[in-house]
Parts: sequence; structure tokens; C-alpha cells
Amino acid sequence: AREIIVTTGTADAGCVLVAVLDSGPGFAADSAEHVFAPFYTTKSAGLGMGLSICRSIIEAHGGRLWASANVPRGAIFQFTVPVYPELLS
Ligand SMILES: Nc1ncnc2c1ncn2[C@@H]1O[C@H](COP(=O)(O)OP(=O)(O)OP(=O)(O)O)[C@@H](O)[C@H]1O
Ligand SMILES: [Mg+2]
Repeated sequence: AREIIVTTGTADAGCVLVAVLDSGPGFAADSAEHVFAPFYTTKSAGLGMGLSICRSIIEAHGGRLWASANVPRGAIFQFTVPVYPELLS
């Protein structure tokens, strides 16, 4: 089964949190941080820039993006971004 779960919530320090959980192959041991390195790819035609660019964009907006292992398998990607209530009114 291929499943993706997307959840949202609040995080510390006035940030919102988005989490994406999948049931894919997950990461090799200790490689959850490597996937953010520019040009790191395991795809035959991959450039390896997708997650590096995602992290740059989120950090430019004052947030954080990280990955961890899902249980029993798969990956979890989570990011935070600051809430600016004045933009919502
Ligand atoms: N959900 C995931 N589960 C397991 N590994 C992942 C997941 N997402 C990304 N990866 C790993 O991280 C690597 C880097 O991803 P990234 O999106 O930066 O580059 P890419 O998809 O390989 O190429 P592209 O530049 O076209 O996006 C992937 O090649 C894959 O090995
Ligand atoms: Mg990609």
C-alpha cells in the first residue's frame, strides 16, 4: 500500500507545523540529513536539488525543514513557518 498522510498543527515560537508521512522505502541508516545536500540523489535521472531548494525557501521564510524515519517504514518530512497574523486580517 502506498499511503501519504499530511497533517498540520502549531509549533513553538509562533510557528505552524506541516508534516508529511509516507509509506515508501524510507532512508538508509543515518541518511535522513543527507537528502538535503545539493546534488544528493538516488534517482537515475535525478538532479538532487529538490529538497535542497525546499529547505532554502523555507529557511528564507524563517522556518525549518527536516526529515526522520517513519514507523514501521517510510519517511516523515516536517516544516515550520512563522505565523504572521497581520497578513490574515
Ligand atoms: N519521501 C522520501 N523517502 C525516501 N527518500 C527520499 C524521499 N524524498 C527524497 N528522498 C531521497 O532524497 C534524495 C534527494 O531528493 P531531492 O528531491 O533533493 O532530489 P531528487 O528527487 O533525487 O532529484 P530532483 O532534483 O529532481 O528533485 C532522493 O534522490 C531520494 O534518495
Ligand atoms: Mg525531488
